[in-house]
Amino acid sequence: MRKKIVAGNWKMNLTFPEGIKLINDIIQGSESLSDVQLVIAPPFTYSHEASKILEKTNIGLAAQNCTNNEEGAFTGEISAKMLNSIGVKYVILGHSERRAYYGETDEIVNEKIKLALKYSINPIVCCGEVLPERENNEHFSVVAKQIKGMFYEITPKQVSNIIIAYEPVWAIGTGKTATPKQAQEMHHFIREAIQNSYGHEIANNLSILYGGSCKPSTAKDIFHKSDVDGGLIGGASLNADDFINIANSF
Ligand code: PGA
Repeated sequence: MRKKIVAGNWKMNLTFPEGIKLINDIIQGSESLSDVQLVIAPPFTYSHEASKILEKTNIGLAAQNCTNNEEGAFTGEISAKMLNSIGVKYVILGHSERRAYYGETDEIVNEKIKLALKYSINPIVCCGEVLPERENNEHFSVVAKQIKGMFYEITPKQVSNIIIAYEPVWAIGTGKTATPKQAQEMHHFIREAIQNSYGHEIANNLSILYGGSCKPSTAKDIFHKSDVDGGLIGGASLNADDFINIANSF
């Protein structure tokens, strides 16, 4: 059985005290949750404290990014090795905002995936098309190309530590959620692509998350689709009740 995962991507939101309060509220709210791996991705500067608070819980700590370099003279960057040293277990890589605003390519994401895995951090690897690509019916080929680039030289053993998030860019932060059918057909397509390269068992065990304006009101229908294994949640993860309600949607 593959893992059900609901991950909160806080992006560049909340002050430190607000973030710590949200973590504590999520811990409280999650006590009755079973069967779902919760993950939260606060900003880097909150990670160490978050790690200490989350240590005795089942909630996983993620970072929102890491650099594609091992270590050295890269002013302002944060490495996978550093994240590992403070107990970070997951890292979001290839988010569309990183691609759009910071020039991240599939090749760079591939380098980051390899470093994250080297330091025992599970990458949550994002893919998804922009609106004109969907309107031109190019969404499948766009996502296939992203997956191919990001998984370059990734071994079957490594894939079992990777999570994929399908996030149609037109749905992120727009309030326009993909329909359950749109999510299912893309998730199925992604699973097939992984199956073609890595075989049935690995593809079947891969968790594929949906992201893009996922809310308590929309999560249920999406999460019930057979190839949807959870969500990567932005805006709604900043509210503990909404985040927990989404995790209760399976
Ligand atoms: P959203 O963001 O839920 O606010 O649309 C999702 C994401 O970017 O991961």
